[in-house]
Amino acid sequence: MDKASSIVILTGAGISAESGIETFRDQGGLWARHRIEDVATPEGFARNPALVHSFYNERRRSGLAAKPNAAHRALARLQKEHAGRVILVTQNIDNLHEQAGSTGVIHMHGELTKVFCAACGARQDQLDDTSLKDICPACSAVGQMRPDIVWFGEIPYHMEMIQAALWEADVFISIGTSGAVYPAAGFVAEARSAGAETVELNLEPSAGSRFFSAARYGPATRVVPAFVEELIAA
Ligand code: NAD
Ligand code: APR
Repeated sequence: MDKASSIVILTGAGISAESGIETFRDQGGLWARHRIEDVATPEGFARNPALVHSFYNERRRSGLAAKPNAAHRALARLQKEHAGRVILVTQNIDNLHEQAGSTGVIHMHGELTKVFCAACGARQDQLDDTSLKDICPACSAVGQMRPDIVWFGEIPYHMEMIQAALWEADVFISIGTSGAVYPAAGFVAEARSAGAETVELNLEPSAGSRFFSAARYGPATRVVPAFVEELIAA
């Protein structure tokens, strides 16, 4: 592969699975034990904010306790050693890519370590639990601070930047995602129509596997480092 080429990488929950962070749609995943409409929609937050705070407090605690794995580290190495541009887009709300050394990570579904005020929009970092008692430091509203997470029915973040990167990509690599949620699930078709090579690295074929020109299946901690090694050596 040309050393100066532009690589766009999309990651999903599967890349963090071997770090102990549960996925959504695998056997026993988050959506097997929680109703999406209760904990991952604006309506759910309006109906029962305490339930949503406790859902994300638990995910923040386990997310902050997790450590990056060999797949996260391999992507950080690729960003450092590939002469061209490597743009990392993640659907994940954990910070394992950053902990592994990746930079400029685009979190299209938001981040567990941030909250914002539903009343005035003020954002802030958040490492400990949130609750209905929280007071907005900007507008003093009480109980309006919510996880900075893009819920179902909301518009993902940084979409213009992501679309521009997909149109310029020479290679699009999708890692650890089921291809169940749009717009992320449509990125492979956009990259393909822009002429990019498309590669799927996943435990098993995803819902969009037919759109990929190449694929490697197996655990991310084995498949991703091996693929990055090949890219760097090519
Ligand atoms: P979508 O309609 O693409 O969702 C596809 C899948 O999500 C469905 O097949 C179903 O599995 C699940 N889903 C969506 N809404 C649901 C609901 N109300 N009840 C049960 N299951 C539901 O997703 P969307 O509604 O178009 O989401 C809009 C945006 O929100 C998406 O673009 C996505 O980027 C984002 N999002 C974020 C999260 C998150 O937890 N951060 C979750 C889902 C979607
Ligand atoms: N190595 C590689 N892939 C794995 C591993 C692993 N160890 N374990 C699981 N996978 C794969 C599964 O095969 C599956 O295809 O990761 C994918 C996880 O899919 P989901 O649980 O649907 O997670 P994701 O694709 O990230 O979900 C997309 O949906 O609910 C929303 O906001 C949520 O961002 C999430 C979005």
